[in-house]
Order: sequence, then C-alpha cells, then structure tokens
Amino acid sequence: MSDPKPSVTLTIDGQTVAAPQGTNVLEAAKLVGVRVPHFCYHADLSWEGSCRMCLVAIEGRPKLVPSCCEEVREGMVVHFERPDAHEARKSQLEFLLLNHPLDCPICDQAGECKLQDYYMEHGGYASQMPRDLKVHKRKVVDLGERIVLDKERCVLCSRCVRFCREVSGSHALQFFTRGVTTEIGTENNQPIEGDEYIGNVVDICPVGALTSKDFRFKQRVWFLKSAESVCTQCSTGCNVRVDHKDGVVYRYVPRRNEAVNKSWMCDFGRDSYRLEQEDRIRGPLVHDGQSLRDADWDEAIALVARKTREAIAVDPASVAVIASPRQSNETNWIARRYAREVVQTPHLDYRVDGSHVKTTLMYDALLRRQDPHPNNAGCAALGATPGAGAGDVEAILDACFAGKIRVLHLLGPEVLTARHDTARVKDALAKVPFVVVHAARNAPLLTDLAHVVLADASHLEQAGTFVNGTGRVQRFTAAFAPAARARPAAAVLAA
Ligand code: FES
Repeated sequence: MSDPKPSVTLTIDGQTVAAPQGTNVLEAAKLVGVRVPHFCYHADLSWEGSCRMCLVAIEGRPKLVPSCCEEVREGMVVHFERPDAHEARKSQLEFLLLNHPLDCPICDQAGECKLQDYYMEHGGYASQMPRDLKVHKRKVVDLGERIVLDKERCVLCSRCVRFCREVSGSHALQFFTRGVTTEIGTENNQPIEGDEYIGNVVDICPVGALTSKDFRFKQRVWFLKSAESVCTQCSTGCNVRVDHKDGVVYRYVPRRNEAVNKSWMCDFGRDSYRLEQEDRIRGPLVHDGQSLRDADWDEAIALVARKTREAIAVDPASVAVIASPRQSNETNWIARRYAREVVQTPHLDYRVDGSHVKTTLMYDALLRRQDPHPNNAGCAALGATPGAGAGDVEAILDACFAGKIRVLHLLGPEVLTARHDTARVKDALAKVPFVVVHAARNAPLLTDLAHVVLADASHLEQAGTFVNGTGRVQRFTAAFAPAARARPAAAVLAA
C-alpha cells in the first residue's frame, strides 16, 4: 500500500478540517458535513468545472471559485454559506433550468434527480422564461439496446462524455453543435455498440437525460428498498447496491469502492440480477424412482442423513463433498467441517471447472476477470481441499465412475452446469447411487442426475462474505428472505 498523503488544514464555514493533499474543496467540505451542490464533478472522472453549481467564496480570491476544481491549501478559509455564493449558485441553477422541460411527473429520474433536489432546496420556482421561448430538443433518442436519451433534460455536465473517453474508452457519447443548441449524443444518433460498460452512464447522469431501457417505468425509486451486495459474475466482486421490492430485484447499481470497482460495473454483471431470479427451485425435491417430486424439509434431510450414515458405515471415503466457488466463505467453511469432522471423508474439493487458475486473470482491461465465480479464492483460503491421499474434483469424478462413491454431496450445481465435458460428468454421476445437490435454480442435468435437490437460498437471500481475485474479503447482506421454502445451504448442512 502507498503511504497516505500528508494532510492540510483549512476552514470551511468556520469548521476546521484536515484533508489529504490533492483533495478538492468540494470533497473536503463533505468531511465536515457540508454538501456542495454539483453536476459535472464526479469522484472517478477528471475535473471539468463547467456547471458552476459548486461555487464557493475563498478568502483572498477576488471572485467565487468552483470548489470541484480547487485543491485544498494550508490555512485556506472557505465560505459555502456566504450570501453571494448562495445567490450565485441559485442563479446558476435558474440558468440551467431555463430550457429544461420540467417534466418531473413523467421523468424516470424523479426521486434521484440532482436537478430536482437542488431546485427544491434553492427555491426560485417561478420561471422567468416564457414557455414559447424555450429551446426544444429531441426527447426520445433510442441509443441502442440499453439507453434512451432525452436531449432536452440534459444539463451538459459532460459526465457521460468523460466516462466514454476516460473509463470505457469507447468515445460513444460526444458533444455536438455550439451555444444554446449544444447537445450530447452519438454520431448521427447511431445506437451505441461495443461498449460493455455503457450502463454506467445512466448511473452518473445527474438528471433524467440518460435512462435505462431495462429499468425505466418499472418502479418509482421511492418504493424500492436497497441492500449492499457483491456481484457474483466474476472474481472481481464489484460492490453493488441491490434495489428491490416485495422480493423482486429491479436493478443492480454499482456501489463505490475505490479499491475494487470505483463507481463502475460491467453490463454483464448489471444484467445478472435477472438470471438470479429465473427458474427458481422453491422447495426440496426428492427422486421417487421416476422423477423429482416436491418434499418437505424433514423428509429430504432425513433421507440425506440416512443415506450418508449408511455410506459412512461401509466406508467414510465412499462419501464425497464438492464445495462451491459460488457459495460464501461461511457456507464453504461449514461444508469443510461437515466433510472433515462429521463424515470424515478425504474426498473434498472446490475446483469444479478449472476456473480457480483464472481467479487473478483479467478478461478485459477494466474490471472483468476470467474466473466466472465470486469465491474461488475464499474456497482456497479456507482449505476446502482434499485430505491425505485424495484427489481433486477430477479424481472424485473418476472415483464416481469407478463405482467407489456411494454418496456425492454437491454444495452447488456447478459440476453439472459450468463444465464443458457434460458427457463425462453424466457418465460418472450415473454410477453414484445417491447424489445430493444444493441448488437455487433449475438446470437440465440436475433433474437427470440428482436424487435429492435441496432448494438453496440465492446470495441475495443470505448474508456472508466472498474473497475476490485480489484477496479482499467482501461482505454481502441479505436483501430479503429466501424465496418460498428455499433454505441457505449452511443451515441445511447444520440440520
Ligand atoms: Fe463544480 Fe460543476 S461541479 S463546476
């Protein structure tokens, strides 16, 4: 880790604050609870200084200055609340609103719109601009698969333009024309293609100019609840906020973590909230010789316990447990204890599909990694690995094929769903008399090969931790209770 930067001491509205060198006044003000309004400034983009909403007075300076572009200096005295600074910000807001359509009742950004918030805070509600003199621009510009642009609502803060230039590198969004007709858009209003991070421009648009096709008009944001979580689509573990209502997730939004994902996430991860909710297994299933049928938990657990005890009585090594790089550290730890201390089998491993060797490898230049699971590193760190004389998952599959395994207990369905050698897995598992799988969602091989399916809670329905590709332990919280009769695997193993 690099040494922390030395701090400088300044005064903001009479409060003394120590801020690291290189910080701007706007960020330093946050440290003493002063929220300076801003549109163009964003913590993970370059400083622009174009919207002028963050003007403050600094002693010794003849004019008001934009606090987002002013570095803190030793002994600096800043006035945010001085009447001239307040009046300048109010006038600037009025200027930004001159041509704004004020269509908040039908705008999807209402409730999380900075323009709306500052308008309510600053007053000046009566417009001095006659409606027939307002400059009108195109209101619905389809920018492809993900985004709709309303050019009239845009305050030209350039956050989206800078994102495409500085972060994703696509240069997809640009400024066009000059003066009062200036607008953002794409070349000839073409759809945006090939930028796999473009969903972030919706998050950073401070107004309702860029809205998400996936989310718009599905929910008003004030009806949503939020939970802090971690994306499970690769070993980066981008920090996300889960916005949900009545057990249904409506969107993932990146949660700022400077050390992991800053303020960004990829579109692939963003879309994964839908996957998590598809085709859920709603209660335990038991094979009756013909097909899987619904069962209650007592029956399913009693059956697994009986079959496992019978196998242990013959030979504990006839039971194999495969941990899951998609389960939390806590669940995998319990699985490890279950295998080592309860069953006392050496057959334990987590390397379900070879992805454990890609945990640190990048898939793209920004955030995505090649390992598609969130917790291979956690499984390795807590030792969900074979005991003396036993082999990895490949050896367990060989033992299954050789008829040496009587009970195979899978903490997740990845052996069935994430590998390419489906035929080999099928042949091996077909030789196992009793296969138990914890699974939250249905999958084709599951119904063919499992004797008991233990309906699992998704990671949105339980709390825990993952270890990401850089070795960082990250906590996720439960957004809501498990669907129907699903139960977290850790609780089922304990039972
Ligand atoms: Fe400072 Fe825009 S936020 S000028």
